[in-house]
Amino acid sequence: MRIRLNGLRQSTVGHTAIGLWRHPDSQAHRYRDLSYWVETAQILERGKFDALFVADALGPLDVYQGSVDAALRDGIQTPTDDPLLPISAMAAATRNLGFSVTVSSTYELPYAFARKMTTLDHLTGGRIGWNIVTSALDSAARNLGLTRQMAHDDRYAMAEEFMEVVYKLWEGSWADDAVVRSASRGVFVEPSRVRPIAHSGTYYDVPGIALSEPGVLRTPVLYQAGTSRVGRAFAGRHAEGVFLSAYLPSMARTLVDGVRAEAVAAGRDPSSVKFFAIATVIVGETDAEAQAKLADYQRYASVEGALARWSALMHIDLSALDLDKPLEYVDTDGIRGMVELFTTLDPSRTWTPRAIAEFVGVGGGGPVIVGSPATVADELERWAEESGVDGFNIADPVPPVTFRDFVELAVPELQRRGLTRTEYEGTTLRESFYGAGETRVRDDHPAAAYRFR
Ligand SMILES: Cc1cc2nc3c(=O)[nH]c(=O)nc-3n(C[C@H](O)[C@H](O)[C@H](O)COP(=O)(O)O)c2cc1C
Repeated sequence: MRIRLNGLRQSTVGHTAIGLWRHPDSQAHRYRDLSYWVETAQILERGKFDALFVADALGPLDVYQGSVDAALRDGIQTPTDDPLLPISAMAAATRNLGFSVTVSSTYELPYAFARKMTTLDHLTGGRIGWNIVTSALDSAARNLGLTRQMAHDDRYAMAEEFMEVVYKLWEGSWADDAVVRSASRGVFVEPSRVRPIAHSGTYYDVPGIALSEPGVLRTPVLYQAGTSRVGRAFAGRHAEGVFLSAYLPSMARTLVDGVRAEAVAAGRDPSSVKFFAIATVIVGETDAEAQAKLADYQRYASVEGALARWSALMHIDLSALDLDKPLEYVDTDGIRGMVELFTTLDPSRTWTPRAIAEFVGVGGGGPVIVGSPATVADELERWAEESGVDGFNIADPVPPVTFRDFVELAVPELQRRGLTRTEYEGTTLRESFYGAGETRVRDDHPAAAYRFR
């Protein structure tokens, strides 16, 4: 297998594609229905995807024109529901698909969060992943107890300690044999096999024992999204999977090489880190049919909505700029990786706000690959080879039609070429990553240092 696949979604109406909710086939408004999530999970499992990756946002998008109006009009990441809650239902309707869910280290308390993830580890039978983000929206900060967003690098410093606390809780508090369930002795848990973590730090004090007994994975499969300089170092230390956003293979290559170098610097095997680039794939029986689908989708794309979304991602009010003047890199407290995407990452081209909005219409965050199954497979293969990514986060601009088209048309061709799996390696998400039998973090991962001894 050379290409791994995740499905990319958020529990909202407008995510990577803005305005396409108006397409008559779009079911985006059904994000509130359990049946929508179950159907999605079953489609992805039919395609032997590693996981469904659920993005999240904790605040409304209010940077564009200093207002939430444009975001509300197009349902752009507002309204949005909690990404964790549909997972149990999807797990009950599938056997192998993993669920990688975005949760912000900035706004959770590690003690309660560790228990939530272990609960999902139990209920999914080891199919849970965590996309670690530090969050980029000032609106989230204002509504979650801060007066303003913490500075970019401080959020990562806090995330670093957050990781230490959850590793101690997941790996170090309970021995594998702590639960004895001995009716004859009257002992359910052997107290000597459970230890307080005694964590005392800059941001967190957590003296006690983990509340949950260990899950199948103990530490969930760890993903990270955020490709600024500090973000890359964080990923090199902690990530098993990295989600990245790039529209050319050469740009992704820069990020992949950067994080792999950071992994080596952190004493890890660089091949332990797998990379996934966002890609939107519009596939038809023929190239012409696929191009016609794209043209149809493009008619619904919203330029103003795209400007509103990217203003919030980058923390730059694009309405205040000349739409036809090239954007320049500035250090913002937003997603710096996204600012780099349209400024420094591809020195051969400049981007104006108008060009960005038109470009991201159907496939925000990555390439839009259009064609017959053979054309699409050629292009995904070329992309993976040139960029060094291990796979793709496939977006769903007209949900769930784009996912279904991909699974019914592109996946058989990818499988025929031996590019994607035809069977799952095991039953857990970490086995999909590393192979049968590997359910726990690798020895070179920092979490391993906290194992119960
Ligand atoms: C491909 C990609 C996907 C991301 N997905 C999310 C997300 O779903 N939710 C979120 O709050 N932040 C997301 N982020 C941003 C993270 O919050 C990130 O930790 C933070 O903004 C720092 O990113 P940076 O290191 O690129 O500056 C994403 C970033 C990238 C590059």
